[in-house]
Amino acid sequence: MAMRGVHIFTTLISFLFMLTTALAEDKKSYLARGSSVSTEDDTKTILVSPNGDFACGFYKVATNAFTFSIWFSRSSEKTVAWTANRDAPVNGKGSRLTFRKNGSLALVDYNGTVVWRSNTTATRASFAKLLDNGNLVVVDSEDQCLWRSFDSPTDTLLPLQPMTRDTKLVSASARGLPYSGLYTFFFDSNNMLSLIYNGPETSSIYWPNPFDRSWENGRTTYNSSQYGILNQEGMFLASDKLQFEASDLGDKDVMRRLTLDYDGNLRLYSLNATNGKWSVSCLAFPRVCEIHGLCGKNSFCTYMPSLQCSCLEGFEMTEPSDWSQGCRRKENITVKRDHNANDNTEQRFIFVEIPKTDFYGYDFNYTPSVTLPVCKQICLNDDGCEAFAYRKGKGECYPKALLINGKKFPDPSNEIYLKFSKVSSSQLLASKPSHICKVTEKDAYPSLQMFEGSNSKFNFGYFLSSALTLLVVEVILVTVVCWAANKWGRRPEIQDEGYTIISSQFRRFSYKELEKATEFFQEELGSGGSGAVYKGILDDNRKVAVKKLNDVIQGDQEFKSELSIIGRVYHMNLVRIWGYCAEKTHKLLVSEFVENGSLDRVLSDHLGLFPVLQWSQRYNIALGVAKGLAYLHHECLEWIVHCDVKPENILLDKDFEPKIADFGLVKLLSRGSNTHNQSKVHGTRGYIAPEWALNLPITGKADVYSYGVVLLELVKGNRVSRWVVDGEEEVEMAVKRTADVLKEKLAREDQSWLLEFVDCRLDGEFNYSQAATVLKIAVSCVEEERRRRPSMSSVVEILLSIVE
Ligand SMILES: *[C@@H]1O[C@H](CO)[C@@H](O)[C@H](O)[C@H]1NC(C)=O
Ligand SMILES: *[C@@H]1O[C@H](CO)[C@@H](O)[C@H](O)[C@H]1NC(C)=O
Ligand SMILES: *[C@@H]1O[C@H](CO)[C@@H](O)[C@H](O)[C@H]1NC(C)=O
Ligand SMILES: *[C@@H]1O[C@H](CO)[C@@H](O)[C@H](O)[C@H]1NC(C)=O
Ligand SMILES: *[C@@H]1O[C@H](CO)[C@@H](O)[C@H](O)[C@H]1NC(C)=O
Ligand SMILES: *[C@@H]1O[C@H](CO)[C@@H](O)[C@H](O)[C@H]1NC(C)=O
Ligand SMILES: *[C@@H]1O[C@H](CO)[C@@H](O)[C@H](O)[C@H]1NC(C)=O
Ligand SMILES: *[C@@H]1O[C@H](CO)[C@@H](O)[C@H](O)[C@H]1NC(C)=O
Ligand SMILES: *[C@@H]1O[C@H](CO)[C@@H](O)[C@H](O)[C@H]1NC(C)=O
Repeated sequence: MAMRGVHIFTTLISFLFMLTTALAEDKKSYLARGSSVSTEDDTKTILVSPNGDFACGFYKVATNAFTFSIWFSRSSEKTVAWTANRDAPVNGKGSRLTFRKNGSLALVDYNGTVVWRSNTTATRASFAKLLDNGNLVVVDSEDQCLWRSFDSPTDTLLPLQPMTRDTKLVSASARGLPYSGLYTFFFDSNNMLSLIYNGPETSSIYWPNPFDRSWENGRTTYNSSQYGILNQEGMFLASDKLQFEASDLGDKDVMRRLTLDYDGNLRLYSLNATNGKWSVSCLAFPRVCEIHGLCGKNSFCTYMPSLQCSCLEGFEMTEPSDWSQGCRRKENITVKRDHNANDNTEQRFIFVEIPKTDFYGYDFNYTPSVTLPVCKQICLNDDGCEAFAYRKGKGECYPKALLINGKKFPDPSNEIYLKFSKVSSSQLLASKPSHICKVTEKDAYPSLQMFEGSNSKFNFGYFLSSALTLLVVEVILVTVVCWAANKWGRRPEIQDEGYTIISSQFRRFSYKELEKATEFFQEELGSGGSGAVYKGILDDNRKVAVKKLNDVIQGDQEFKSELSIIGRVYHMNLVRIWGYCAEKTHKLLVSEFVENGSLDRVLSDHLGLFPVLQWSQRYNIALGVAKGLAYLHHECLEWIVHCDVKPENILLDKDFEPKIADFGLVKLLSRGSNTHNQSKVHGTRGYIAPEWALNLPITGKADVYSYGVVLLELVKGNRVSRWVVDGEEEVEMAVKRTADVLKEKLAREDQSWLLEFVDCRLDGEFNYSQAATVLKIAVSCVEEERRRRPSMSSVVEILLSIVE
């Protein structure tokens, strides 16, 4: 009796609660059992979360097709977080969402077909409500949860929504469409969170890197709890040790979502509450060509500066305008084998070498340690062999029956040999066919300006010990990322006529004019990977430096718009660009002439040709360079990462005021796949931050690292290349070792060690407290984890605070 009394009491309470909430608040905060909402109702919004962040209802996917979805209400464009019926949209006329008497929430199409329903059958189900975190739940009268949308995500994971063995994210099939696509994010059978491509013909895991062991990717397969979650600060942590974080880590008020996009890339987005726009704050693949299935078979992917698919030589697109169909041979290679005749297959086929390309998957008959002719023979002996990959150094032979997941792969030791029949090949290859077509628009990705996150926990020590050989290769690849990351920023539209005189100062020069000014490029001031620099005098007696650029980006329009940005950069610690010349193949930059040459001349002056830089001058150089970089990173119109900060690029004027040269160049120079020249790679050993080699997107923090190395050089008075012990040590290691030693010494009470560390040419004439501060800054700048490096503007602040 007492029990029943309690029950009646609670029912009454909850009824009253229902009534008051219904009266006091927006009546759309819950849906009670027995109600039904039609697609034809005036409002397509059915429920709103109490905090107003989320709404759910009918979402229009086509003129007369709707899904039942949850979306963010604070973004400027409706962004869907969850969909009940992504593969079966319902008709706009006569379809209903009903909360049935028997307790299941169901979506019913116009003709009565139930396209989706919650698995709540219990008679206890009382309400459906949308929670503040975007979770749609069905609860009983005691608020016990019976069903939740968080258990069946579509392509998006919200903060606090767990990834478990039962949940997976499936990408959309195309941008703006609800349908399930070919990419899945899930816990694989090894307990690892992975990305898999499930194509019509093949299926393959492409993340974490399938070539590496789990531990090489910083993961573990041992924890079988299979759990991952994005917390409200923006940090994702999983049981397999996968960890990544948003660039705005720590800000609890930012709305975020982790979405497996239609292109197979996993991106963490943050919402800017002011303008309602999403920005990517972390992503799995800066180099999108690593994603499988982007281009169809017999084609390969390149990314410069946007994703492109191209057919292999001798192939043509199977279906014009649809890259997923890939390419097919212009001539078939399968020549009927005459088994009676003693035919010599070798004479009927030739192999065409395609350098620096790789295809993932569909290998058969993998044979290690064989010579190239043996590998050829293996392919010849098999009618199904279309081509083979051969790794020279190791003699690894991979015959392939299908060429899929192709990408340009700038490791010179990997080559693809395509099989052609001899008859057809001569005409075929003479014509050099090659389809190139853009498959994604540039604006397919939101701005990456804020990118700061790392996509996996990295270990610099590991990198140093085993991956140094890859460094150069990786740097080539990452340059593209750095360039690309810059490109996605805001970009003013430049009219072709308008750019010739962008400001009265910045102008176009004719090649003749520059020939005259430099007296036919007589006096060379220096030369680097990007080109040689010559001294010149203009008609108005201005002294200039004229740089002949090598390997400029192809698009004229692109070149001009990048130039117009550089042309508008003006800061006393940056070399002023006066103009440019673009005539046929001639691409030149004209900049201010800086009297006293570059910092490296002074630093590596062991013959005593120049007066020794005094402490106050060094301090002033440190401050000036910091100001210049801070301007590039934070203050100028366009966010610019220098990418190659080193003493050679720091020029000194007659008062030894520093001026940074070559900023913005990384955007002007092409890194075409055919023209890789390692000496021209941006970034210089000893100065490049670890993230270059780790394949993470490059931000201003990469410049901060280089700046830290330059600071150490300024104080020590010699080049980083000389810190290496007994010629064996890698220069990166020397930086790390120096920083570690300093860290320990700076913590000491007694700072007398400074006398030994600081350039002996100063004879002890320096300010101890300033030197210690500069070294502290330097040590923090060369931190391996970029999050721990200071920003350039905070470096400026510290340096300014202790100017004498
Ligand atoms: C209802 O309509 C859908 C889509 O038009 C169709 O696939 C389904 O077979 C129909 N069901 C019935 C019972 O007619
Ligand atoms: C409904 O599905 C969820 C997730 O699949 C499960 O945990 C729950 O037990 C199911 N409920 C019922 C009543 O079957
Ligand atoms: C709930 O009721 C509907 C009809 O109102 C019926 O079609 C459905 O099968 C019922 N579900 C269960 C689990 O009884
Ligand atoms: C396994 O992962 C879970 C969830 O992340 C964690 O709580 C647990 O401590 C991990 N177990 C081990 C042995 O690391
Ligand atoms: C959000 O957008 C506003 C207006 O566009 C902008 O001023 C602000 O800097 C942005 N906030 C962040 C954190 O990006
Ligand atoms: C190649 O062979 C396929 C099937 O055997 C055939 O459909 C196709 O037309 C052939 N292509 C050429 C160019 O002969
Ligand atoms: C720097 O310029 C000053 C004045 O023009 C000159 O005396 C000095 O020798 C120059 N130093 C170097 C390193 O070129
Ligand atoms: C790369 O460029 C430099 C200078 O432009 C040149 O000396 C060198 O031979 C080139 N190397 C290759 C491999 O092309
Ligand atoms: C060193 O610089 C500090 C300013 O940071 C100043 O207060 C101090 O007097 C200087 N010491 C010497 C010995 O010049």
